[in-house]
Amino acid sequence: MEAKRKIIVTSALPYANGDIHLGHLVEYLQTDFWVRFQKLRGHDCVYVCADDTHGTPVMIRARKEGVAPEELIARTHAIHLKDFTDFQIAFDNYYTTNSPENKAFSEQIYAAMEKSGGITKKTSPQLYCERCRMFLPDRYVKGTCPKCGAANQYGDSCDSCGATYGAEELGAPTCTTCGGTPVVRDSEHLYFELEPQHDYLAKWITEHTTSDVSNKLLEWFAEPLRGWCISRDAPYFGFEIPGHPGKFFYVWVDAPIGYLASLKNWCGKNGQTFEDWWQDPAAERYHFIGKDIIRFHCLFWPGMLHTAGFQQPDKIFVHGFLTVNGEKMSKSKGTFVNARTYLDHLPPEALRYYYAAKLGGTTDDMDLNLADFVQRVNSDLVGKITNIASRGGQMLHKRLGGRLGTLDAEGAALVAKCRDAAETIAKFYEERRFNQVVVEVSRLADAANEYFDRREPWKTVKTDEETTRTTLTAALNAFRLIAIYLKPILPVYADKAMKLFGETEWTWATLGTVRENCALGPYEYLASRIDAAQVEAMVAAATVKPAETGEVAHESRASKNRGAAAASQPFADDSGLLRAAEPRPKEVASLRPTIAFPDFEKLDLRIGVVQSCEIVPKSSKLLKFVLDAGSLGTRTIFSGIRAAYPEPEKLVGREVVFVANLAPRKMSVGVSEGMILFAGEPGTCGGLLSPDAAAGGGTVVS
Ligand code: MSP
Ligand code: ZN
Repeated sequence: MEAKRKIIVTSALPYANGDIHLGHLVEYLQTDFWVRFQKLRGHDCVYVCADDTHGTPVMIRARKEGVAPEELIARTHAIHLKDFTDFQIAFDNYYTTNSPENKAFSEQIYAAMEKSGGITKKTSPQLYCERCRMFLPDRYVKGTCPKCGAANQYGDSCDSCGATYGAEELGAPTCTTCGGTPVVRDSEHLYFELEPQHDYLAKWITEHTTSDVSNKLLEWFAEPLRGWCISRDAPYFGFEIPGHPGKFFYVWVDAPIGYLASLKNWCGKNGQTFEDWWQDPAAERYHFIGKDIIRFHCLFWPGMLHTAGFQQPDKIFVHGFLTVNGEKMSKSKGTFVNARTYLDHLPPEALRYYYAAKLGGTTDDMDLNLADFVQRVNSDLVGKITNIASRGGQMLHKRLGGRLGTLDAEGAALVAKCRDAAETIAKFYEERRFNQVVVEVSRLADAANEYFDRREPWKTVKTDEETTRTTLTAALNAFRLIAIYLKPILPVYADKAMKLFGETEWTWATLGTVRENCALGPYEYLASRIDAAQVEAMVAAATVKPAETGEVAHESRASKNRGAAAASQPFADDSGLLRAAEPRPKEVASLRPTIAFPDFEKLDLRIGVVQSCEIVPKSSKLLKFVLDAGSLGTRTIFSGIRAAYPEPEKLVGREVVFVANLAPRKMSVGVSEGMILFAGEPGTCGGLLSPDAAAGGGTVVS
C-alpha cells in the first residue's frame, strides 16, 4: 500500500453571476470522482472551491435588481451549493472569494509583487459611460468593427471578420447597459510584469502541465512576456488595492487566491493550519480547470505565487468543453441545460455514470449525446451492472431466506478475477482515465453475468438450494467488488450497495474481504432505467425561444457557453485591458494529446477483404462486416458507417484497412473484433480507406 498522501484539490471557482449548467459539471464531476477515489484509498484529501464573486457582471446585475452585491452573491452561493450537493459533489469547503481570508491573502500577495519591483503603471485610453458612471469592459460596449464595418460588435473582437481591436476603436460605440454613448477617457492602471520570470515560468510550465498545454503556452515565450493589467477602476465589486484609492484588484487576481482562502477557512474549521497544508512541501496540490482559463492558471498564478514565496500547484489538470449532440450547447435547441433543470427530470447517477464513461483525462471536448446517454445508462449501469445485484439479491431473499453461503472454486475464481483488477482500476483513476475505469468495471460485470447465466440459478433453485446459494454468493460478491470500484463515481449507489451487504464502511482495503455465511440486507432499488421521454421533457424545459436567448449573435460569449464553437474566443473574459497588455491568446481548441511513437507502433493495421456486409437490424448506424484477414482468419467487425453505404452488399470483395489488434468489444449486437478505418463523417462525406493496388487479406499496412 502506498504511503498516506496529503492532497489538496480544487475546481475552478464558478462565477456568481450565473447558474451551474451541464458544461460546468464536466469539471466538478471529474474532480469529485478523483477526490473520492483518493479518499477511498485512504489518503488525506481536501477538496475546496468557492463562488467567484467579484467583477463587473455581479455589480451590474445587483444594480439592476436593486440589491446589494453581497445579497446577490449570498443567494447564488446557496443555489450553487444545492446544485452541487444534489449532484453528489462533496466539497470539503465551498466558500466565497468575498471573504476576509481572501482579502488578507490578496493584500499579502500584492505587497510581495510590489516589493519585488514587478508592478508597473501605464495610462491608456478607455471607454467611459457617464450615465453608468463607469469604465466599460469589452462585453459592455458594442459598435461597428473598425476593420470591416460590421455593426453590433463587442469591444474586443469582431465576429464577422475576426479582427481584434481596442474598444475605443469601435465606431459609434454604445453602452450595452444603458444604451448611452460612452466617451474616451484616460486611466492609469497597474500591471504585473511577467518578463522577469520568463525562464522560471517556461520551466514551470513544462513541468506542471501536460505537453499539449505546455506546447501551446510556450509559443508565447518566443517573445518577451507582456505585463498583465491587474487593476480596475471604481465602481467595481471587489477588493480595493492598498495604497491606490479608487483602484480595485481585477477579479482574476483574487479568484485563484480564493483557492488559498477557501483552504485556510477549511483549516480554521477543522483544527488545521494553512502552513501544514498548502505550505507543507510534502503536500500535493492540484487544480482542475477548463481549457479556456489556462493562462490564468499556468502563467499569472504561478507567477504570483512564486513572487510571494508560496508553494506552487503540482499539476494543472485541463479538460475540454462539453458539446451536446455534437454541437455547442444551445438555448434555442434546449441543450443549454442548467443543473437544476436536469435534476428536475433525471437522476444524478445517470449523468455521473455517463460523464465518467466519456472522460479520459485529456483536453479533448466531450460530447453528451442524449440518445447514447439513455442507451448506455440503461444497458450498462442498469441492465448489466445493477442487474447482477437485483437478480441475485431478490432471488436470495425470495427463495433462500436471504442468507449468503460460501464460495466454491468457480465462485472464488470469479471473485479473484474481480479483485485482480484493483491495481489497474486504481491506476486509471489516478490518471483521471475514468472512461477506462468504466470499461474495466463493465468487463467484470460481463464476467459476473456470464457466470450467473451459465450456472442457471433460476433452474437449480427448484432442485438444489445450496448450489443455488453458492452461485448467488459468488455473483453478489462479484457485484460487491464492482460497487466498491464504482464508489467514487456513484457514491450514493455504493452506499446503498454497502448496506445490502450489512457493512458500515467501504475503503479500498475492503476489496480484500468476502461476504460469506451472513444475512443480506433488504434489497433496495439501486438505479432505475431512464426514459427518452424524461430527456425530451428536460430539453423542452430548457428550450428558450430564439428571441429571448440573444444567442443569434453572441451566445457563446454573452452567456459563457463554451461549446466547441466558442473556441475562437478560447480565452474570452471581460477585459479589454487584458487584451492590450497580455501575451496574445492562442487557439487552444485544437489541443489534442500527441501520442508517442511507441503508442503508434502498437497498432497492427492490416488489409481485410470484405466477405459479407449487412445492415444490423434495430440499429440506425451499424453495418456488420465479415472480413477475410488472410492468415488471421475471418473477423467480424461492427462499424457505425451505414449512412455512407446505403447498399452495403456492394462492398463485398472490396479491400479495407482495419486495426487488427484492438481488444474485442462486446456490443449489444455481438462482439466486434477490430476497427475499420474510415475518413470523414459518415452521412456527409468520407469513405472507407483502401489500398491502391490489390494487396490481399492479412497484408500488413506500413
Ligand atoms: N470564475 C472563473 C474561474 C476562476 S478560477 C480561479 C470561471 N468561471 S466559470 O463559471 O465560467 O467556469 C468554471 C469552470 O467551468 C471553468 O474551469 C470552465 O472551464 C468550466 N466550464 C464552463 N463551461 C464549460 C463547458 N461548457 N464545458 C466544460 N467546462 C466548462 O471561469
Ligand atoms: Zn451606460
